[in-house]
Amino acid sequence: MSLTPEQIQANYQKHLKIIDNYIGDRKDSIKSMINHMEETYVMAPASGRKWYHNAFAGGYVDHVNRVVHYAVEQHRLYQKMGGTTDYTEEELVFAALFHDLGKLGDGDEPNYLPQTDKWRQDKLSEMYQYNPDLDFMLIPDRSLFILQKFGIPMSQKEFLGIRLHDGVFDKANEAYFFSNVESSRQKTSIISILHTADFLASKVEYDIWKRNGGSTIPKVKKTKSTSGKRVNSSDGLNNLLKNL
Ligand SMILES: [Fe+2]
Repeated sequence: MSLTPEQIQANYQKHLKIIDNYIGDRKDSIKSMINHMEETYVMAPASGRKWYHNAFAGGYVDHVNRVVHYAVEQHRLYQKMGGTTDYTEEELVFAALFHDLGKLGDGDEPNYLPQTDKWRQDKLSEMYQYNPDLDFMLIPDRSLFILQKFGIPMSQKEFLGIRLHDGVFDKANEAYFFSNVESSRQKTSIISILHTADFLASKVEYDIWKRNGGSTIPKVKKTKSTSGKRVNSSDGLNNLLKNL
């Protein structure tokens, strides 16, 4: 799967529009950071392997735009379900916009380089390889590093949202998610909102790739269900919600 040049361009324009609409005082320094690494910014993938998510040119911006969208939707759902939200709209969108910034590299050199080894492309679905010249950093740490490198300040909530957006998929985050005393429980809900938005966006991107014929494993022969009738899961869910 890939994006057309027109789609890549449209996604980038949408991205800049999100910044214009949601970001206040920091807009100019953010725009100058983006200008500094524009080619990488526009063309980077969101991952290196086909079956991860958005492992194609322009996949990064496509993913981040989706995370911003889902974060706003998750925010509404969380409030609707009775959760307490304690951050501003700008804080949520800022954290969503830059949670994966580290995937672009260190602000000067790119993180992803095209995989030139045909065998690794075919057998491992590896479309990009990590730049071996970069110092190792976890992606969220590098995201925060790049923001400070370009003199872009952030609130504590934005910091925590970016730093912990992988949730407990990253073991290094466990101290933030499992507490022994109430006072060390997460106080801001931006962490949960952003983590779930990112998780769902990545999963949807995988689903889109899969629906478009993406596969790295042999097809399994389908077996018929015992009733022989397929249930539309959204119909079932709608009926369930109606009966609540
Ligand atoms: Fe992400």
